[in-house]
Amino acid sequence: MNKDFFSDRFPKGWFGVLFSSELAIGEIKSLKYFNRDFVAFRGENGEVAILDAHCPHLGAHLGGGTCVGNTIRCPFHGWQFDQAGKCTAIPYSERIPHKAKKGALKQHHVRELNQMIHLWFDPEGGEPAWEVPLSAEMSGEDGWTRWYFKRWRIKTQGKEIIENLVDTPHFAIVHHAPVDKITVEFDQHVARQIALIGAHPTLGDQLETVATYYGPGVMHVEMHGTHESRQVNFHTPVDNESLDLCYGLKLHRDPALEDTDAIAEEYAGFAHKSFYEDVEIWENKVYRETPLLCPEDGQLFELRKWYRQFFVDAPPQINIA
Ligand code: FES
Ligand SMILES: [Fe+2]
Repeated sequence: MNKDFFSDRFPKGWFGVLFSSELAIGEIKSLKYFNRDFVAFRGENGEVAILDAHCPHLGAHLGGGTCVGNTIRCPFHGWQFDQAGKCTAIPYSERIPHKAKKGALKQHHVRELNQMIHLWFDPEGGEPAWEVPLSAEMSGEDGWTRWYFKRWRIKTQGKEIIENLVDTPHFAIVHHAPVDKITVEFDQHVARQIALIGAHPTLGDQLETVATYYGPGVMHVEMHGTHESRQVNFHTPVDNESLDLCYGLKLHRDPALEDTDAIAEEYAGFAHKSFYEDVEIWENKVYRETPLLCPEDGQLFELRKWYRQFFVDAPPQINIA
């Protein structure tokens, strides 16, 4: 991978890590993102906690532990930690060290909304600076199907994926669906694309889409076409060379249709295939910091400037005289 401004660092923001359906009460999931290890669990109170994964006692990975009430129990010596990362019990000791009681495991900011679990990451350890909006449709109220989603671990970085938002010409070539009209607006942590996409061989008649990034890693899409759908695109860095790309889709239940779920499943399959068409390009391309562009290439530099705001731990610029 060639080096550039974005290569060796991670952006700050909200990142999708799981769909709610992937974490039942009492369940534990090990997560590896931003070159770090986390553990997610859902207590019997229904709340999700994400903590650093390695036990402050002697370093075991809590992912192999068990969920007890609203705590996670380490698989090595059985210390228990609550959802704030505080030690609440040591099975062979009456006295819990003060440091452990206060919270020896880092608790991370979590938002569960739209039937998804989001993790806040800031390389400088700052508090959440914005929120991912709650959507009634995405939350499944009022006659929407469940999320049909797929997750791929791919060898690329977020800087490549976000460029889809302004890259109009690739639609006709890669996705066989020319873009008839497109506008892209940037406002603080939000980047929004409104597009009219010509008839697509599998996704149906002309589509009107509104795709909005809330920060660097979570994009919501409203799609109005043959079917009314809501989609989500998460891309969450695993390390400096790979990320998890997750694409979810849900359809509005149409009373005129016999089996919306079957259609949703098929439709999601087409959407996943369409999204995957980009993956092969991403995995094999290089990043051009100073690309050779033509006037129709769109708002690429505006997008890159918008994306740059999330890289907060940038070293100071050194002026070489
Ligand atoms: S390493 Fe976790 S309890 Fe000992
Ligand atoms: Fe694309």
